[in-house]
Amino acid sequence: MRVLSGIQPTGRFHWGNYFGAIRQYIQLQDEADDAFYFIANLHALTTIRDAQQLWQNTLDAAIDLLALGLDPEKATVFVQSDVPQVSELCWLLMTVTPMGLLERCHAYKDKKAKGLAAEAGLFAYPVLMAADILAYDSDTVPVGEDQVQHIEVCRDLAGSFNHLFGETFVLPKAKLLDSSAKVPGTDGEKMSKSYGNTLEVFEEPAVLRKKIMRIVTDSRPVDQPKDPESDHLFQLYSLFASPEQREEMAQRYRRGGFGYGEVKQALADLAVDYFAEARQRRQQLAARPKQVQEIIGDGGAVARRKAAEVLLRAQQACGVKPR
Ligand code: ADP
Ligand code: TRP
Repeated sequence: MRVLSGIQPTGRFHWGNYFGAIRQYIQLQDEADDAFYFIANLHALTTIRDAQQLWQNTLDAAIDLLALGLDPEKATVFVQSDVPQVSELCWLLMTVTPMGLLERCHAYKDKKAKGLAAEAGLFAYPVLMAADILAYDSDTVPVGEDQVQHIEVCRDLAGSFNHLFGETFVLPKAKLLDSSAKVPGTDGEKMSKSYGNTLEVFEEPAVLRKKIMRIVTDSRPVDQPKDPESDHLFQLYSLFASPEQREEMAQRYRRGGFGYGEVKQALADLAVDYFAEARQRRQQLAARPKQVQEIIGDGGAVARRKAAEVLLRAQQACGVKPR
């Protein structure tokens, strides 16, 4: 099994990103024969137009991922744009991509539905994503539900290319990330940068505590029993709690006689503790940006070698290089 996934460097990672994606990538690096994880800076370029910000986000994403446990000994960790072969492959795929297929893809469709002008880059976004996947002969792509459509596009394009030019690409499968890990934000809605309700993995503990104290709760009186399962504060607490801690807290909810402030305090303690080691590793890495750049540079070299092999296969198949 060769696993591949990409994550856009559009801002600092929040708990939703960690429990919904990054933690599962880290688990998979042990299970897979091979794992490729990259920072999708070319995709982020469709939304970020500030050079300094994009590069800072990319470096931060690399440091965060390494600090959280992506291990360059087990996985190839790299930056998307360090593999120019992917952009070349993207063009070859573009020539077999029906416009109608891309018109149905949600990123473009949603923007257009809002009456906003979309760039060709946003339109072609799924083709670049297909190139990302096919360039490494990946067979397993762990993604959230919102990206499943793009894996289908990838399979379609690979299938068309294979049909036109002979077997060239491995058809990948989406591996749906555990959606029970959907993390609520401070307002109870899905945690997302676009809703401004996030709690960041590497937030300063003092700031994090303040943010946690401001989590929206209902106004049921202290003595009234509450249902833990439907409460987002309890769901957040469960992310960090041991099964025993979780059960104990659930019983307190059912008994009543406590204030939400106590739960928030307990949540803050657990969350700060949970990421303490990673925070320390992050500090060490951040103090040595050269070392981080070396790690992702080495990952890029490995990725380029593999992508060059697949690109040549595709170029020969369609006749832009002699066999
Ligand atoms: P955002 O919604 O903050 O922009 P992204 O779309 O960049 O986050 O998410 C990157 C990855 O993190 C995706 O794989 C997505 O499935 C996962 N993810 C994001 N938010 C959550 C959440 N609240 N719960 C679970 N997973 C999430
Ligand atoms: N589009 C993905 C996202 O926004 C990121 C991504 C880019 C990706 N290329 C990929 C994910 C290839 C999986 C495989 O989350």
